[in-house]
Amino acid sequence: MRQANGLVRSVRLGHKRGAYDQSRCPECLILMSKKKILITWPLPEAVMARARASYDVIAHGDDPKITIEELLETAKKVDALLITLNEKCRKDVIERMPDNIKCISTFSIGFDHIDLDACKARGIKVGNAPHGVTVATAEIAMLLLLGSARRASEGERMIRSRSWPGWQPLQLVGQRLDGKRLGIYGFGKIGQALAQRARGFEMEIHYYDIYRQPIEKEKALGATYHETLDSLLKVSQFFSINAPSTPETRGFFNKSVIEKLPHGAIVVNTARGDLVNDDDMIAALKSGRLGYAGLDVFAGEPNIHEGYYDLPNTFLFPHLGSAAIEARNQMGFEALDNIDAFFAGKEMPFKLT
Ligand code: DGY
Repeated sequence: MRQANGLVRSVRLGHKRGAYDQSRCPECLILMSKKKILITWPLPEAVMARARASYDVIAHGDDPKITIEELLETAKKVDALLITLNEKCRKDVIERMPDNIKCISTFSIGFDHIDLDACKARGIKVGNAPHGVTVATAEIAMLLLLGSARRASEGERMIRSRSWPGWQPLQLVGQRLDGKRLGIYGFGKIGQALAQRARGFEMEIHYYDIYRQPIEKEKALGATYHETLDSLLKVSQFFSINAPSTPETRGFFNKSVIEKLPHGAIVVNTARGDLVNDDDMIAALKSGRLGYAGLDVFAGEPNIHEGYYDLPNTFLFPHLGSAAIEARNQMGFEALDNIDAFFAGKEMPFKLT
């Protein structure tokens, strides 16, 4: 049942007039004792089914998008929040969170949209969904590498604009991936899954991360560790951004970093848009200092920097990294695992605070 404010109640508590007859309706007791959770966007069917089996779910419709005011208002009526990266739970929002909210679980690996310090200060437990995204996001990074190297979106645009003159020897000539050096910045689960896939395309894998992987893992992935970012940049004909958005990484991909890459390097980003200085990236793509950019994420999504729209040497996706049903199901289950643990008085399996 959709209500005027876009909220959908998935479990109807009211039956007939008067008190419940529990002998006729034993599940009423269970229903009545169910905790209430708000899910801020419709999630895959399997996730919603599991959520509804355990909780009295208030699910927000996707039209209109939930506003922060609606979130705060609805939060008064529930015991936990299952949010997405769209709901920016900054300090001011967490400070206004009603006292009954002590559990927030996010349907994402990234948690840059939540002020964890503010949550700690309010005693709010926060968890994320760190594993489900891995393979799906590595696949999108691989697709961006291939699509950028082989100029896929230029070809697609040529056909769709009915301007393909026919096969030509020098038409949309790109480059192969095999034998090229791929520098991976951020070698967590997604960076490693990308390395595994890029090896299948015979790329040479290099990485930089604040944590070095054990030698056996480096050997298994055929990955060469660089002690500094500068050292990685120097060798990276292809460069993939796979680090989280933190105060240390935000805006790191700027003019001075770009200038350390080989001329014409191809960069792909499946992490977070705010790691990139868009003005510097766009200037480098225009001048040819960077050959191509494959981007799945943008600062200020969905209002991306105007400069990207008409740049031919870009391959752009609307944050598709985890958009595979296997990933989205697992993300939902992980987010629910956190909530289940919280209500069972246990530590969240994917806790952030
Ligand atoms: C995440 O989980 O943080 C991803 O960006 C969603 O695709």
